[in-house]
Amino acid sequence: MKKLNIGLIGYGFMGRAHSNAFRQANHFFDLKYQPVLKAACARNEENVRAFANSAGWESYETDWRKLVERDDIDVIDIAAPNNVHCEIAVAAAAAGKMVLTDKPLAMNGIEGREMVEAVKKAGVPNMVWYNYRRVPAVTLAKQIIDEGKLGRIYHYRANFLQDWTISTDLPQGGQALWRLDVNAAGSGVTGDLLAHCIDTAIWLNGGISRVSARTETFVKERFHNLTGKVEPVGIDDASLFMCDFANGSLGLFEATRYARGHKALYTFEINGQHASIKWDLHDAHRLEYFDHRDEGKLRGWRSIHVSDNGGDHPYMDHWWVPGLQIGFEHSFIHQVADFLKGLETGEVTQPDFENALITQNVCDAILSSGKSGQWVQVEN
Ligand SMILES: NC(=O)c1ccc[n+]([C@@H]2O[C@H](COP(=O)([O-])OP(=O)(O)OC[C@H]3O[C@@H](n4cnc5c(N)ncnc54)[C@H](O)[C@@H]3O)[C@@H](O)[C@H]2O)c1
Repeated sequence: MKKLNIGLIGYGFMGRAHSNAFRQANHFFDLKYQPVLKAACARNEENVRAFANSAGWESYETDWRKLVERDDIDVIDIAAPNNVHCEIAVAAAAAGKMVLTDKPLAMNGIEGREMVEAVKKAGVPNMVWYNYRRVPAVTLAKQIIDEGKLGRIYHYRANFLQDWTISTDLPQGGQALWRLDVNAAGSGVTGDLLAHCIDTAIWLNGGISRVSARTETFVKERFHNLTGKVEPVGIDDASLFMCDFANGSLGLFEATRYARGHKALYTFEINGQHASIKWDLHDAHRLEYFDHRDEGKLRGWRSIHVSDNGGDHPYMDHWWVPGLQIGFEHSFIHQVADFLKGLETGEVTQPDFENALITQNVCDAILSSGKSGQWVQVEN
């Protein structure tokens, strides 16, 4: 067993999800590498110490630069806001560390390209946590599409709906509210929510060539926690776009934080010549499938409970018995297991930085189209 010392930056939502994944992967997957929770890093000493203790990290740092300099760290894992991804990733690659970052890759394509160049120059393994690819039902959708069961694909439709920023009293900026601050997040729902939908879409249905978008900021000013003043809001509260895929299919996407009643409604539907599939994060273990080639009297939507552990359903042979489902956190465990397997086999685990840059470029094109009102070609 080869030990792989991890240095994690950020102890929030993703810091906890990543910690759990590093701890669990070897318990359920047969792997030659084993992550060691070496050091966690965040700026507040009291908080990061408490987190390191509860999540099982051996030590902690309060400055990410110290973590990057440490000789006993093999992998830097970035679970901090988007505005620090690029600087940390570039420094980590230059120090010869493997680099993992949560999504979106960066604030924009310019930073994303810098990150891609840095990891390529250093020749270090790298990966972005677009975890939905590793929800078994979504992975099954990929297998079904790759087997050609849908035939020619005509439509791809996706939504990611939330409602947590509707209140005009909600401040922007700082701990927990950095997503509303354009200087920390880079964009609003485009980079936060649509980025997930776009990564899944490109993985399942291929590249996006051009987009036409409509973005809106419903609440124009909010109190800023860092400046102590009411400041203009620079993020997109809602983002809708239509697009052309390179395979000739049409895409329609919507993300918002103003859909009252929805907390994290991520859904997609794909319509092909012979068959359609749809998936809903709220029923993450189910894949809906309709096949027109079925016998007429039995034709209808099938609801596949993706829990077979006999080998038919991706990842499920590592878990419980048929009929028992797994959850959100398992997609991160799968991603760690795949990354470690990739180190073993030499196969690049996707999405790497270069692959995640494609999604970043689509996000940039959406924001640009939202401003100009014009169709925008996606940079490749
Ligand atoms: N894959 C997913 O499903 C998913 C879900 C949520 C968030 N994310 C992404 O994960 C990243 C983190 O999001 P989150 O929800 O965990 O945020 P969070 O606000 O819960 O936690 C952010 C953490 O980063 C730390 N931090 C901030 N600036 C820092 C700095 N300069 N140095 C060290 N630590 C710093 C904070 O102290 C905090 O611990 C973001 O890029 C976000 O887009 C991905």
